[in-house]
Amino acid sequence: MCGIVGVLGRHEAAPLLVSALGRLEYRGYDSAGIATLDEGRLGRRRAVGKLVNLSDLLVHEPLRGKSGIGHTRWATHGAATEGNAHPHATPRVAVVHNGIIENFRALRDWLGERGYSFASETDTETVALLCDHYLGEGLSPREAAQQVLARLEGAYALCFLFEGEEDLIIAARKGSPLAVGHGTGEMFVGSDAIALGDLTDRITYLEEGDLAVLTRAGAEIWDEGGAPVQRAVRTIRLDAQRIDKAGHRHFMAKEIAEQPVVLAEALSRYLRPDGSLTLPEPGLDFANLDRLVLIACGTGHYACHVAKYWFEQLAGLPVDIDVASEFRYREPPVPARSAALFLSQSGETADTLAALRYCKGKADRLVAVVNVTESSIARESDLVLPIHAGVEIGVASTKAFTCQLMVLACLALEAARARGRLTGSEDARLVAALRALPGLVHQALDIEPEAERIGRKLAEARDILFLGRGRMYPLALEGALKLKEISYIHAEAYASGELKHGPIALIDDSVPVIVLAPHDELFDKSVSNMQEVMARGGRVLLVSDRKGAEEAGTGVWEELAMPQVDPVWAPLLYAIPAQLLAYHTAVAKGTDVDQPRNLAKSVTVE
Ligand code: AGP
Repeated sequence: MCGIVGVLGRHEAAPLLVSALGRLEYRGYDSAGIATLDEGRLGRRRAVGKLVNLSDLLVHEPLRGKSGIGHTRWATHGAATEGNAHPHATPRVAVVHNGIIENFRALRDWLGERGYSFASETDTETVALLCDHYLGEGLSPREAAQQVLARLEGAYALCFLFEGEEDLIIAARKGSPLAVGHGTGEMFVGSDAIALGDLTDRITYLEEGDLAVLTRAGAEIWDEGGAPVQRAVRTIRLDAQRIDKAGHRHFMAKEIAEQPVVLAEALSRYLRPDGSLTLPEPGLDFANLDRLVLIACGTGHYACHVAKYWFEQLAGLPVDIDVASEFRYREPPVPARSAALFLSQSGETADTLAALRYCKGKADRLVAVVNVTESSIARESDLVLPIHAGVEIGVASTKAFTCQLMVLACLALEAARARGRLTGSEDARLVAALRALPGLVHQALDIEPEAERIGRKLAEARDILFLGRGRMYPLALEGALKLKEISYIHAEAYASGELKHGPIALIDDSVPVIVLAPHDELFDKSVSNMQEVMARGGRVLLVSDRKGAEEAGTGVWEELAMPQVDPVWAPLLYAIPAQLLAYHTAVAKGTDVDQPRNLAKSVTVE
């Protein structure tokens, strides 16, 4: 997703802008650029590809000035070219933008009729030219920006820099996040607190519809209705060293390895030593809930899918799940006595935020399960359940996924208790098994050398299938997503029982089939499906526990033995082989593991 930074500094802005953009690289991008004011004159440098290309350009063609804006672009309108890279500018104004201006074609036509020509295919350029138009009519920078914003439809986080205005940046947000950083005699703006982590820890999050006028003395903010407002200045401690690889080759490898620790942390925030569970206020009254709606995107959706089994099997609570992009337009009835839960690592995913807004006034309680507690989804919910995964930089979600599952597992346990569905021994068993998970995850990481060896073999495949039954079916879906999004190999997942209804036609000796099957109540069924695959020459990689491997490992192509785990919580543990297989396959393929092509860490546009 695009990243935005702005600096009204006491020192040269260019190096600060490039460094801040570097902290946003994790969001995924394909070009970058900055603009500064040098003695009042706007200067701009842009480069395609990685940030290092922009840095190189600035060595040969430096930009001076202590005020500037910068951008990493994840292409929405127009290919990744220098001409489409931000900032977009006229001699009077430079603009950087995250989001989509949905009426940009009408604006282009309107500008074209007034003699403007276009140097790019982007929606953002219309914003710069529109602002230039109003400046040309004699409006002040703030008035011009307000006129522009009034005409924009869609989602945006915008920063404007004006010719001759060395102590001014105007920032605005609608649908895409934007944060203001408070320095000492300096002010900053960024897409999130991570971008500003090297510059300040005093952060103000702009709210929906806010317009902020920044000078080095501070920020004046007006809300959507044009009224001046005060927004809280929070201290966000983001120690800079946490945004590094800690000796690992990739952030993804580091974040996979961190899971035993962050899972223990997440669990400790919800499960007390006496086995009781604690939810932040106002909590959830599961005893009086008739239905739970779980909404997310991508990996988050698969976590919801796992949780559907937990809530229904443990608590007898009906659960609807859906991907946010479908839910928001399907406009489903949200019954009374229901809670709607929105799961999002970033807390900024546009479709999930829109789905939340659809449920406002319908569901009895809006719950956010997020990793970023100051995010838009968190701020617009009634109840926020942090997952405590720590900063996740790798675009492919790993520790956030297992921490989401950990929080959902605690919720499902709380629901089962509240609805009187557990005997004492069942409760004690489930609690003990939950407590054991961080240690089992630590043990499971020992399969990494095997996963690396197998990954090198998977890297040669053109198509790969994942199979799972019951609670492991969503894990198969997640394993296929992990693999495809970082190795670019086509991978699909099926409920094992579905194989005979068509997908088995795909099976031949060129197709590895990864079967996720702990020795649980459905194991024998999974073995039957595995045999059907092997009978047709399919190469089966069995991921099971020792008992499963002993019973069904004969004749398989490869196997990975996992620690014994309570079958109920097995999906959380089996995420580890799914992550490690994907990671090592991608490394063998030589892809950009932390920033896979075409992907963004936080999809803040729909
Ligand atoms: C996960 O590996 C993907 N990068 C992606 O599916 C991600 O889970 C999805 O975009 C949702 O992001 P969120 O959790 O920040 O809302």
